[in-house]
Amino acid sequence: MCGIVGILGHEPVAGQLVDALKRLEYRGYDSAGVATLEAGALTRRRAEGKLRNLEGRLRDAPLSGTIGIGHTRWATHGKPSESNAHPHATDRIAVVHNGIIENFRELREQLEKSGAKFASETDTEVVAHLVTDEMKKGKNPVDAVAAALPRLRGAFALAFLFAGEEDLLIGARKGSPLAVGHGDGEMFLGSDAIALAPFTDTISYLEDGDWAVVTRKGVQVRDATGKIVERAVLKSNASAFLVDKGNHRHFMAKEIHEQPEVVGHTLAHYLDMAAERVSLPMTLPFDFKKIERVAISACGTAYYAGLVAKYWFERFARLPVEIDVASEFRYREAPFSPGNLALFVSQSGETADTLATLRYAKEQKQHVLSVVNVPTSTIARESDVVMPTLAGPEIGVASTKAFTCQLATLLCLTIAAGRARGVLSTEDERNLVRAMIEVPRHISEALRLEPQIEALSRDLVKAKDVLYLGRGTAYPLALEGALKLKEISYIHAEGYAAGELKHGPIALIDENMPVVVVAPFDKSARREGVFEKTVSNMQEVAARGGKIILITDPHGAKEAAALSLSTLVLPDVATTVTPIVYAIPVQLMAYHTAVNMGTDVDQPRNLAKSVTVE
Ligand code: G6P
Repeated sequence: MCGIVGILGHEPVAGQLVDALKRLEYRGYDSAGVATLEAGALTRRRAEGKLRNLEGRLRDAPLSGTIGIGHTRWATHGKPSESNAHPHATDRIAVVHNGIIENFRELREQLEKSGAKFASETDTEVVAHLVTDEMKKGKNPVDAVAAALPRLRGAFALAFLFAGEEDLLIGARKGSPLAVGHGDGEMFLGSDAIALAPFTDTISYLEDGDWAVVTRKGVQVRDATGKIVERAVLKSNASAFLVDKGNHRHFMAKEIHEQPEVVGHTLAHYLDMAAERVSLPMTLPFDFKKIERVAISACGTAYYAGLVAKYWFERFARLPVEIDVASEFRYREAPFSPGNLALFVSQSGETADTLATLRYAKEQKQHVLSVVNVPTSTIARESDVVMPTLAGPEIGVASTKAFTCQLATLLCLTIAAGRARGVLSTEDERNLVRAMIEVPRHISEALRLEPQIEALSRDLVKAKDVLYLGRGTAYPLALEGALKLKEISYIHAEGYAAGELKHGPIALIDENMPVVVVAPFDKSARREGVFEKTVSNMQEVAARGGKIILITDPHGAKEAAALSLSTLVLPDVATTVTPIVYAIPVQLMAYHTAVNMGTDVDQPRNLAKSVTVE
């Protein structure tokens, strides 16, 4: 995940920028750079690889500017190299960026037509040229940024430095985090409070869509509509802990909100976004063509990620998948024919049942691939190959960001499998990858439903039981929604395949029973009438007085909102990626219900983050 820092200081800032970047090293990176103003002119030093390479450059050719921006880059568009490293610059402006600019291709074409010369393969460089273009039309830096920001599509954070402007930095956030640090006659920008901890513990966090004009005197924040807004100035304890809650009340809330960024980071690891294809950075020690069957096992939330993957593997890689919770799998004595694939999914990489199943699969001569969030964990160490989820440390016991990163990783693996098996065309792969590139933005959009979800959670606290329904890949989401709710609010909840409603749970439905229906309008399954069948199930619930909360998209809302008490309308996204985007409202619903109940959200009773006993 890229790291951003900006300093308006009194002394030369290059050294401080590098110090702050060192504190962002934990996010992972492959190149780094800084830019400052030397007698008003933009000057950069950049280097591929570790920060010591950048320090070497600065030793050979020091920078003396007292204002500057710095960056650690995790490659998305374009390989790790000095020319792709940030800051990207024109003669007027330098910019550092975290996230994805989805429409960079069309912007680059337009800018090239009007004479802009590009020096890198990155999506970021279009931002530099776009703002420069506005400035050439006579706009001042603030107006130029204001004009450029609405033209950028994606989830991102940016920091700008301008030639000749010794007292101005501009920061902007849409999806990816950005914090403003307040010092004594000095001001700072950073991806998180951790980067700024050596300089200040006084922080204001930008909200989604905000952009900030920072001078040594202070900060003026505007929201996405351009209105000047106040953002609280808080004391951070980031200097004491590497992981802090930012401006969130709970780690779980922070982790839910980190998802645009960490999912983007995970996708960047497995996709070549510029080529619009999957590009796994590791060599798989088996040939998918020779795999006849995949066995997935995991526990809890990770198991539901595996269940979604079953649908994907069967559909896009035409591979039969068997899946079970790890505690059952290992005692079932399931027959394995040697040389097939056993796939394990785990946030901690330490879950005892998952580990025991992994060892059993190894004895059965399976190829062992694991999707884990902790790369140094036992499961990672004992696997033949590891696909890390790059969610960062997950502290809240109820898993959120690890789940969506697991899904992102598993979809990339599925596509690689489909391609290797010759069952997924280049065009289908491209369409899937395009849909995935848009996911971080769609997650940001889904997060905007939070006030509506918070309001409806005030009713949910009164429920004794809640039913979650879904079909297809929305079925595992229904299971995950129910699990999240019971884990942290202690309200009994069940997830069911919508088609099974008639075979039991319908008996429970009365006017006290909220029923959460997860139902994206699945265009691809339209001909089988999948959505219509879910609508029939909703009718069965409504006829018995059940209170429906429908989670859908604009098409689905048009067809079925009349049956529901509340409808959460998510953006219209490609059907395949709906499980990643639809995870957000079910997480938020559980979170706000628990907050309203007054439970210990981050450490719910009786539960453990890492279950190392059987
Ligand atoms: C515990 C946690 C869950 C998690 C499950 C599996 O129950 O509370 O959030 O999904 O373990 O953990 P793992 O680390 O293997 O993903």
